[in-house]
Amino acid sequence: MNDMTPTREQREAKLEGMGCKRKRVEDIRFTQGKGNYVDDLKLPGMLHGDFVRSPHAHARVKSINDAEALKVPGVLAVITAETLKTVNLAWMPTLAGDVQMVLADGKVLFQNQEVAFVVATDRYAADDGINKVVVEYEQLAPLIDPFKALDADAPVLREDLAGKTTGAHGPRKHHNHIFEWTVGDKDLTDAAFRKAEVTVKEMISYHRTHPSPLETCQCVCSFDKIKGELTIWGTFQAPHVIRTVVALIAKIPEHKIHVISPDIGGGFGNKVGAYPGYICAAVASIVTGKPVKWVEDRIENLTATSFARDYHMTTEIAATKEGKVTGLRVHVLADHGAFDACADPSKWPAGFFNIVTGSYDFPVAHLSVDGIYTNKAPGGVAYRCSFRVTEAAYCIERGMDILAQKLGMDPAELRLKNFVRPEQFPYHSALGWEYDSGDYHTAMRKMMESVDYAGLRKEQAEKRAAFKRGETREIMGLGVSFFTEIVGAGPSKNCDILGIAMFDSCEIRLHPTGAGIARVGSKSQGQGHETTWAQIIATEIGIPADDIMVEEGNTDTAPYGLGTYGSRSTPVAGAAIAMAARKIKAKAQMIAAYKLEVHEDDLEWDIDGFRVKGLPEKSMSMKDICWAAYNSVPPGMEPGLEAVSYYDPPNMTYPFGAYLCVMNIDVDTGVYQIRRFYALDDCGTRINPMIIEGQVHGGLTEAFAIAMGQEIRYDDDGNVVTGSFMDFFMPTAVETPHWETDFTVTPSPHHPIGAKGVGESPNVGGVPAFSNAVNDAFSFLGSTHIQMPHDYWRNWRAAKNLGVFA
Ligand code: CDP
Repeated sequence: MNDMTPTREQREAKLEGMGCKRKRVEDIRFTQGKGNYVDDLKLPGMLHGDFVRSPHAHARVKSINDAEALKVPGVLAVITAETLKTVNLAWMPTLAGDVQMVLADGKVLFQNQEVAFVVATDRYAADDGINKVVVEYEQLAPLIDPFKALDADAPVLREDLAGKTTGAHGPRKHHNHIFEWTVGDKDLTDAAFRKAEVTVKEMISYHRTHPSPLETCQCVCSFDKIKGELTIWGTFQAPHVIRTVVALIAKIPEHKIHVISPDIGGGFGNKVGAYPGYICAAVASIVTGKPVKWVEDRIENLTATSFARDYHMTTEIAATKEGKVTGLRVHVLADHGAFDACADPSKWPAGFFNIVTGSYDFPVAHLSVDGIYTNKAPGGVAYRCSFRVTEAAYCIERGMDILAQKLGMDPAELRLKNFVRPEQFPYHSALGWEYDSGDYHTAMRKMMESVDYAGLRKEQAEKRAAFKRGETREIMGLGVSFFTEIVGAGPSKNCDILGIAMFDSCEIRLHPTGAGIARVGSKSQGQGHETTWAQIIATEIGIPADDIMVEEGNTDTAPYGLGTYGSRSTPVAGAAIAMAARKIKAKAQMIAAYKLEVHEDDLEWDIDGFRVKGLPEKSMSMKDICWAAYNSVPPGMEPGLEAVSYYDPPNMTYPFGAYLCVMNIDVDTGVYQIRRFYALDDCGTRINPMIIEGQVHGGLTEAFAIAMGQEIRYDDDGNVVTGSFMDFFMPTAVETPHWETDFTVTPSPHHPIGAKGVGESPNVGGVPAFSNAVNDAFSFLGSTHIQMPHDYWRNWRAAKNLGVFA
């Protein structure tokens, strides 16, 4: 080896493979304003569409008069449900097996529902046209309170379902009932409660909120009448699914539909579903023969395209006097709004809510979920969450704190006593999951040591004593949260979207000079896939990450994939990437053996190429193998070096984490101060620690927002009172606390590289940590549970209700 020969460390560093804090390659364009988003697209002759929306939450539409609107200069067409009926598109199927009006058909069922679509030469003309469309409404009694939805005299919302006693998920027991979903053993669970020494019961609400990505939902549809082809550029988290859905409902052959998701400015679940804007823009383009753009504004986004949560969870835990849990019983009233448009895998009407036993070894459990209609926007999307996992984590983490309070135990100690133990993995939960791997005790203890948990409890006790003596008006809360996530939908045997199995895919093509392209079925909305996917390939096949271009989001070039949401990209697409790379490596080994004139079995992998066992100087780099693949392959072998993998995961992955929030609250004003927030995450093998940290920061910021104020709130008439960023809490760097991050590594045993997802973990674990901190702060004043969100006013009101001003 001469001085110029790179060391192993240098060769490894050059790859920037897994474990490297590689800088995000996409940031080069994002930070210079060179991103390419849907609204950047300008096509010759492009028209613009915008919606007339309902001011009422529940009303009959008596008439729509577009005569004056059509006189507005630039307005070309006004599309209504009657227009859509001529092409059989007045209603569309939802991902949850329901149907949804594209434009109001006889009735409106929530405020800001789409009533008519005005198409004009520019956005301003469209807006002027909207103001001239005259809609005559007859107001009907709105149903806003989910707890009144199943009353005998509750208004009938869905007249289209009259007489239907069965829905997509089984029997319906009332005109506003969608489904009842039950899991677990009711008899055994009831028996555990009858025998229990201690029980707790609380109705824990997780309020309605919204993912509110900075870029709203939007699309450009362009129909080429000559070729009969439809091209759709859109903010789609799952472009292939959109292509299939359009083919099925618009009856255009799938190969004549081109769906392109360019750069996306945040999705968080908001951009999974199909919305009326997409259908109307497509129909408008077919009708006019011109490209049509539809771009939501902020109020439309917050009030009409989806929502998240709105779960009201009556939670009961049975336990021994010593604090060993013996049973869990949960009933959920799930407010789905006007249509069931939940973005869950088809067979899961409440998503993966049955992860609600959390990180604890419950011997028995029973869960029932009633889905109901109200006069609110449809949706139920997985806002930085894997299909209702965040609701489940909030439910059990509040439940455990409430149990600890009743038992007079420390919440952290109660958790340590009930965790699934390391030797129990793979662990079969009472509600049907198989947790792949975990070491909860180590994570929890590391958290407790890192923050000096005992010291903080001592300080809290002193503060409480001082409060009682009247020396301070500040109370202190410690919010402990320990969560287990379930991410990576599939397995196709369990999970599908409208019948399409939930696998994912990757195609890698290496070029003669040793560079290459990877096309993947996932679609980044800011998660940094272009950076991390290349790192997986770099480690697997020894080509530097910088020499791999990653492409996603074009259905003509990427292999069929189910897209990105619910932190499924790393568990599923990430696995497909590794498997495609391994196929390439296997072929590369044959080529190297041929060139080095040895048997394949005599070769071993060495960072960036193969070497002959026992003769390290006889080797061939991947770069040289790439060249050979195009000019001197073994006789009978096809030239080229490429592979595709469709990966159907055998199981989900189960990341976990231990979080702690330290909070002070001033009882006289309700103003809180987040003193400290510590987040330990275990997502198995870490591909890029810097990106993971960024994901954790972002998820914690959203968790902070949700727990401390972010809410879609309706008044009694069904008006959205938090429909803009003036009222909907969107924290900036000013309000956001400092995050301390940490980790342990417990690889997934079934994932090719041992990685689990991470993107949504901080949201799932963060919300209960904040809420537990507030509740812990107030608990010594006699409170058991204060509902979220915990904004200043509600904190003040909680203090008042607890008599601190007496
Ligand atoms: O599906 P989504 O991309 O939203 O979530 P994810 O699979 O959790 O990945 C989010 C980002 O974190 C991606 O860039 C991943 O490659 C990265 N990540 C990582 O570096 N290591 C992990 N074990 C998990 C995710």
